[in-house]
Formats: sequence, C-alpha cells, structure tokens
Amino acid sequence: MAANNDPIPHPNPDYDLSTPIDPNGVGLRQNLTSYGDAHFSLFMRKLFIKALGYSEDALSRPIIGVVNTYSSFNPCHANIPQLLDAVKRGVQLNGGLAIDFPTISLHESFAAPTSMYLRNLMSMDTEEMIQAQPVDAVVLIGGCDKTTPAQLMGGISANKPIIHLVTGPMMPGNYQGVRIGACTDCRSNWAKFRAGVLDIEDISALNEELAPTGGTCGVMGTASTMACLLVALGMMPLSSPSATAPAVSSSRLRIAESTGAYAVSLAKTQLRPQTILTQSSFLNAITVLQAIGGSTNAIVHLLAIANRHPAVAGTITLSTIDEIGRRTPLLVDLKPSGDNYMTDFHSAGGMLALLHELKPLLHLDAMTVTGRTIGEELSQTPFRPLPKDSALASIIRPFDDPLYPCSSLVVLRGNLCPRGGAVIKASASKDRRLLQHAGPAVVFASSADMAARIDDPELDVTPDSVLVLQNIGPVGNPGMPEAGLIPIPRKLAEQGVVDMLRISDGRMSGTAGGTIVLHVSPEAADPESVFGIVRDGDVVVCDVEGRGLDVRLSGEEVERRKGERRRLAAQGGNKDRRPAWEERKHMRGYRGLYMREVNQAEEGADFGFLTAAGPGGASFDDDCQ
Ligand code: FES
Repeated sequence: MAANNDPIPHPNPDYDLSTPIDPNGVGLRQNLTSYGDAHFSLFMRKLFIKALGYSEDALSRPIIGVVNTYSSFNPCHANIPQLLDAVKRGVQLNGGLAIDFPTISLHESFAAPTSMYLRNLMSMDTEEMIQAQPVDAVVLIGGCDKTTPAQLMGGISANKPIIHLVTGPMMPGNYQGVRIGACTDCRSNWAKFRAGVLDIEDISALNEELAPTGGTCGVMGTASTMACLLVALGMMPLSSPSATAPAVSSSRLRIAESTGAYAVSLAKTQLRPQTILTQSSFLNAITVLQAIGGSTNAIVHLLAIANRHPAVAGTITLSTIDEIGRRTPLLVDLKPSGDNYMTDFHSAGGMLALLHELKPLLHLDAMTVTGRTIGEELSQTPFRPLPKDSALASIIRPFDDPLYPCSSLVVLRGNLCPRGGAVIKASASKDRRLLQHAGPAVVFASSADMAARIDDPELDVTPDSVLVLQNIGPVGNPGMPEAGLIPIPRKLAEQGVVDMLRISDGRMSGTAGGTIVLHVSPEAADPESVFGIVRDGDVVVCDVEGRGLDVRLSGEEVERRKGERRRLAAQGGNKDRRPAWEERKHMRGYRGLYMREVNQAEEGADFGFLTAAGPGGASFDDDCQ
C-alpha cells in the first residue's frame, strides 16, 4: 500500500517472480547480494537505495560508479569534491546515474612506512569494490603517486569498464624571484641546507611556498609520469589536456565533466580494460616514459600493471624498457631531468603535442578508452606547433634537438643483480662522469644504519666512493621506501660535492635527481642476493653505456660470503641484518600478507596472488608458502 498521499506506483516488473533475474544484467540487477532469492535481493537493494531519494527513473539509468579518494590527509586530492560534482554533471547530462563511493586514499607523506607498502592494498580495495557493487562503468579519480597505478591494477583485475581522471598538477611557487615546486626543489634545497648554503630562515620560508596549491607534485615526478602514461596507455582521453591541466584550473573541471560523459558511453559499449590494453599500449607507454624522462617508480608500476593483464603479463619486462629507451630521445624539458614545471608542459601543448612528435615511434593501432585508436585520436586532434620564438617552444623538443639523445631510463645487469636487474635515470645524473664509474663501496646495512653514520666526520668516504644502501627492498624494508636518494655525506657536501654514485635495492622519488642506481634485484634481504653481501671497500663498477652493474669479487668469494650470511641468519642475524626473509613467516595482519606475498621490483612489487598468473605463477620464494 502506498504511503500517505503518494500516487500508487505501478507493479514493478523487477519483482515479477516468473521472470528470472539475469545475474549478469546491468544497473542494480548485477552483483546482487546473496540472500538465496534474487528477487528478494533486488527488492532489498531498491528499498535501501530509495532511502537516499532515488526514483525508479533514476535507478533505471546506466550506473556510473565514481571512486572518491578524497582525504583531508591528501592535499594532492584536495580538488576531488569539485571534480566529483563535475563528473556527476557529465554523467547525468548524458543519461547516466552517477554514484560515488570511497576507497583508500594514499598520500606520499602521510602513509607510514611508505605509500608503496599500501599500493597493493589500495588495488585490492579498488578491485573488490568495483566487482562487488552494481556499476556499469567506473570513473577512477586519483592523482598522488601510488593511487593511479593501484586503481589501474585493480581496474584491470576487476575488468569492468573504467576511465581515469587525475586530480592534476599543483601550481609552482616562488621564492626570492625563483620558481619552485614540489618536490625536486624540496630535495635540492634541503641538500643546500644540509651543506650550509641555506640557513634556517631560508628553509622555513621555502617550506611555505613549495606546495602553494592543492594538486600533485608539479614536476615530472611519479604522479605526473603516471598521468602521462594513462594517456599513452589509452586510459585517459588525449583530445583534452587530461594529464596536464592544473588541479586548480577550470580546464580540469571541464575534463572531469567530459570524463563523466565518456563513462556513460563506456557503460553502453562495455569496452573493458582487458580489451583496450594490449602489448602495444604498454609499448606506447614505455616510449612516452622514456621521452618524458619519467619517474623510475613508473617502471615498477608499469610492470605490476602489465602483469595484471592475462594477455600482456610476462611480455613487458625490464628488457622492454631498456630496448625502447635505446631508440627514444628525451624530449620534455621538465625537472628533475630538465628545468621546468608541469604547468609549462601543459602550456606547451602537453601530451597531445608530445604524442604528435612521437608519432613515428608509436603503435597507432592501440585502442583507447574513447573507442578510437590512438592513431585515429591523433588524426582528429591536430596540434599546431608553437611559434619558434615562443618562450615555451623549447619545453617539448623536436626529435632532432632532444634534451638527451636516448635512454633516459636505463636497465643495468651484472653480478650485483643476477636474475633480476637494476634501473638508473641516467638523464637525471648531476655528474655525467659517474655514469661510467668504479669505486670502493661504503656500505650501509639499513636506513637506520645510514642515518646514524652518513654525517659522521670519521666516515671513510671520498667523492669517488660508491654509497651502497642495503635492505630497503620490497621485503627488507616493507614498501621499498624512497630512500635511494642517499644524501651526500655532510663533510663532502660542505666541500661542494653534489653527486656521487649511489646504489640501493629501494626506490627514489620521481622528483629526485643524481647518479642513483635503484631497484637492485634480488634485494639484499634475499639470502641469495649478491647485493646483500657487498662490504666496505669492495669495488663496485657501474657502466651505463655497457649496461653493467658489477662488484669485483670472484665467484668463490661470493659463495663464501653467502654461506657465511646463511649461517648468521640461522643464528638469528645481527642487529643490522634482521633476517626479514625468515621473520615474515610469523607476521600477522596486512604486514604479514605483504611480506609473504610481495614479489621483486622487476615483477612490479605486486602480490603474487593478485597477478594474472595467480599464486602459482609468482616467483615468490616457495619456502614461505
Ligand atoms: Fe602527491 Fe607528490 S606527494 S604527487
């Protein structure tokens, strides 16, 4: 019986018990909660959602889920409330019903021990909430470094239609007439402060200006890199400046509105990420990664993303990244490899201009989220180059005048990383002589060891030393922290040394620069790791041109040290070298899950059981299963 004076509704066909409910249906009819009676499940679902005031008309529309990753702990996502409004407008103007829902939000500075530790958790959250809820397509709003890869990893695994919307970069700030921005300038100015070049008043004033607006870091760090790669992968439209429009711009809101409209189309076409993404999409993304001098973190993320896709997994490896690098010039002049900011890249034409320049290297038949190939998109959106005398003309360089000829990101192999590899952002080196260098190792067994000794005046170190930081890999220091930017020992910094060869099994912020080898794999915590047995004084050889990373030790000495290490581990280890490999078997909660399941950097540092290959396909140490 209808309540009060409301009109009596017509009998609802959804409750017609003689008509079975298609479990693979659309809208509210999909993913029904299990009550054992599908009609009752739908009846219950409708009565509850009507508590929010929705009419039968609204509920009959394609449902567009909008993932809300707003958090007051996440200034990179500060504009999400406005973006949500704009996305919903775009959905509703095009006949859909937008329903937002939350997932985890991760910010780099508000996730201990590191946001990377939680990336896989966010991907699980994203995957499961997309799968569990009745959505016909989903808009994934993210931005800060780990959020977009987590969302794409989860989205591929869920394989419902998805489209990304990033929050956009922040504006640059200003200090004493010089533009500054998070976070390349955070690090360079902190290094000057450590060296005594800046005083405490300077560094305090800089702290006020380095992040002057909401939005993601304003250089070619991980967030900006991943935004550009989402366009290259075809998961964000390239006809609008979807990767580069500033967070605080009206353009960003119009992009959000059009993203809502695209989502309604996706709900109708049911074009899914496992259909859009092919090996060609990833080859395009790697070409862009090299051309923008993107973040080394993006390598780990791309590998994890590729390995979620059943038809792509295993076809994209570190070798692919190096091979593409050899033929791809660095064209975008942004910090940390160059001098400028994301707002400059945006003003110079952004991804549309870059993709037109890169066209000869791209797989133009790769599909995009619009339902058109990247080649079709480019032919429909010509880009008129800037006048040569424009101040912005040099931001996106032509092929014949690149910022760096090729191989911005290089993969190294050698006896220091057998079976695995290591990466270096060669274009961000501050002293290019160090790209071919041999020197005695100064070894730190952990981040804590480094923090305790790096500024010790008695530290036996010279500018030719090779700083080695062990045990900050995926298992050794859960989350593989961005501690790979080992600071220059203060006594050398005070002498004016600005770069040294530094090597670790950890990561580095995409905004950082220097001659820094990262992601050494197998990581030091692995009992079989050669990197884990390097000692002070061992000569380490880095040969970027020859792609080599070696330690001058005989095979016999390597085996002798490994045996010694195994014996020490069996006795419980020493204070600096906790046998994390053993300890993880007994850990509880998410930490235990992470420690037992995370794979190595060259596989994406994903959980083996989340990859397309599943638990059996992971290369995780089988004595822990
Ligand atoms: Fe969020 Fe840099 S801290 S993008």
